[in-house]
Amino acid sequence: MSIDHSQELQNGTSPSNKIMVLFGSETGTAEEYAFDLGNALQAEGYACEVSDLDDYEASALATEHLAIIVSSTYGNGETPYNAEDMYNWLETQEPDLSSLSFAVCALGDSGYPSFAQAGKDFDRLLGENGANRILERTELDACFDEQVEPFIEKVQAWLALHGQCYKKIVNLNPV
Ligand SMILES: Cc1cc2nc3c(=O)[nH]c(=O)nc-3n(C[C@H](O)[C@H](O)[C@H](O)COP(=O)(O)O)c2cc1C
Repeated sequence: MSIDHSQELQNGTSPSNKIMVLFGSETGTAEEYAFDLGNALQAEGYACEVSDLDDYEASALATEHLAIIVSSTYGNGETPYNAEDMYNWLETQEPDLSSLSFAVCALGDSGYPSFAQAGKDFDRLLGENGANRILERTELDACFDEQVEPFIEKVQAWLALHGQCYKKIVNLNPV
């Protein structure tokens, strides 16, 4: 089930009607993909912000409408350093995320036993805390140099159907 915020936008009551793209990354691939996504969405007129998870207060997630997490995996199936706080908050605080919609793009390398585990865990924890999954998780395998474009296209297709409320307001009657 998707959440329709269009009425809130019409009434001007929405506190936050942007798309928040958050990345967990150590060597820059997930960061690059997050910015590719953010740039593609902005080019289509959506209000969209991209942030390093380290620069983002985890509890703010509960106030977002739509968050897209792009995260790689490190260690033995763990989150990148910059995503640890968000992971711990989701796991230990069990926040009420029932007003949030989300999608996850999970990066990894199938040469490791716990393939893309951090993204899988974010996807699970967001769902367990009540957030509304808009797309099935996408997993990108660095072993096969899988690229982010198909994921971007899936997000764009979902927004074309459900994302009017995230479009930037253009003043057609300037004074
Ligand atoms: C030390 C190290 C540990 C890794 N551990 C895992 C792992 O457990 N599971 C996995 O799927 N990928 C693992 N990877 C692969 C990375 O997740 C993958 O290369 C990813 O594309 C890196 O993205 P980033 O540049 O955004 O950090 C590991 C890579 C390194 C260098």
